[in-house]
Amino acid sequence: MRIRRTFFIGFSLVIWLLIIYVTVVNRQITLTDGNEDVNNRLLKLEEGIAEQYKLNKHFINDLHTVIEAKKQAAVVDNEIEVHTRKEFKGTVIPVLVLACNRVSVSRCLDQLIQYRPNPDQFPIIVSQDCNHQETTDVINRYGSQILLIQQPDQSDIDVPPKEKKFKGYFKIARHYGWALNQTFFNFNFETVIIVEDDLDVAPDFFEYFLGTYPLLIKDPYLWCISAWNDNGKLGLVDEKKPELLYRTDFFPGLGWMLTKSLWIELCSKWPRAYWDDWIRQPEQRKDRACIRPEISRTRTFGKIGVSNGLFFEKHLKYIKLNEVFVPFTKMNLSYLMKDIYDNELIRTVYQSAVVSYQELKDDKIAYDGPVRIIYHTKDAFKRTAKLLGLMDDFRSGVPRTGYRGIVTFHYKGRTVYLAPNMNWKGYELSWS
Ligand SMILES: *[C@@H]1O[C@H](CO)[C@@H](O)[C@H](O)[C@H]1NC(C)=O
Ligand SMILES: *[C@@H]1O[C@H](CO)[C@@H](O)[C@H](O)[C@H]1NC(C)=O
Repeated sequence: MRIRRTFFIGFSLVIWLLIIYVTVVNRQITLTDGNEDVNNRLLKLEEGIAEQYKLNKHFINDLHTVIEAKKQAAVVDNEIEVHTRKEFKGTVIPVLVLACNRVSVSRCLDQLIQYRPNPDQFPIIVSQDCNHQETTDVINRYGSQILLIQQPDQSDIDVPPKEKKFKGYFKIARHYGWALNQTFFNFNFETVIIVEDDLDVAPDFFEYFLGTYPLLIKDPYLWCISAWNDNGKLGLVDEKKPELLYRTDFFPGLGWMLTKSLWIELCSKWPRAYWDDWIRQPEQRKDRACIRPEISRTRTFGKIGVSNGLFFEKHLKYIKLNEVFVPFTKMNLSYLMKDIYDNELIRTVYQSAVVSYQELKDDKIAYDGPVRIIYHTKDAFKRTAKLLGLMDDFRSGVPRTGYRGIVTFHYKGRTVYLAPNMNWKGYELSWS
């Protein structure tokens, strides 16, 4: 902006000087040349000067406008900066690490401790379930760098016979419920970032959550900030744009921030198992969205136990973890507020050219810029998603990373929208 304005002023000045030069030289030539009536010439010169005067006035007016705009921008800049600093100052955001029986929790803790800019601003609470002594020993080695709490309820859980093999999910839900109660009601924090013991984190993990925190507080249509892009595989993300963020209707989890007010809403009806799919149901989500990054700020380094090993091998291990530090707290993230974001997204998506999967794959599109692939049915969505290597599943009718039915990703150097019709009416709960 500043460079453009300076350039504009310089450019105008050059033009102005040129006009004066040309005018003066012209007049001189006409005056010394020929034998016409001197009066006539003087008249012409007068006209010329009047014209010049008008031009100068115009130029000076322009200059005033530019200077005024610049002054105003400076005021806005300043206000926003002061405002933002106030919001960040004194904001304590604990990180709650959920551990059980994996000694590899140290890998996650090492990174959290290495990257956190300030231990007072980001206290680390490790909540351990499972009473696994070896893991407790590992955690205890961190001393006062972390706070260890232990889930006291180790009673056996009554699981329906059909779900015996999913018992782990029941234990996890119970642990989450207890640990979040501790964080919000016992320690009285206002916000928390939840991390599981099998996550690597990016160097700007804390900066990301701190920078997006004001959005979570200000925008009532946001209910979480997530570090995870479900389609964040190499080849589907723009590696040159680690600063890019999106809204998503699909709750991503895997390193996410929530506020106490959301927990107050959820805690009394917290489910006995499968909490992540439960939270994605319309009764819980209530049309609220999360922020997610283009390039994930977490990555799971392998899950043994409850989660599906195949899912890790086929998908999770290809997610790219961001390596560049993006100064989110110093950036203007207002474009993510619902009204601005929705307008801009709808405008760009439905102005973009429609292409087929084949055209996209063959890279046979003659122009630059974003393109759109349309889907009308669940099967069409799944087919295209599979071909492109996108996640093709739905939860409560929402595709992964979907926002208003639109799945945005990066492919062969351009932004692609897998999008429904413009008159889209909402998610179909029956799509699964
Ligand atoms: C958490 O606290 C809420 C509110 O007091 C309570 O209803 C819920 O049972 C608690 N959950 C757990 C797992 O302790
Ligand atoms: C921040 O971004 C918003 C939305 O894109 C814009 O309207 C506003 O002018 C920006 N503020 C500054 C200080 O650049």
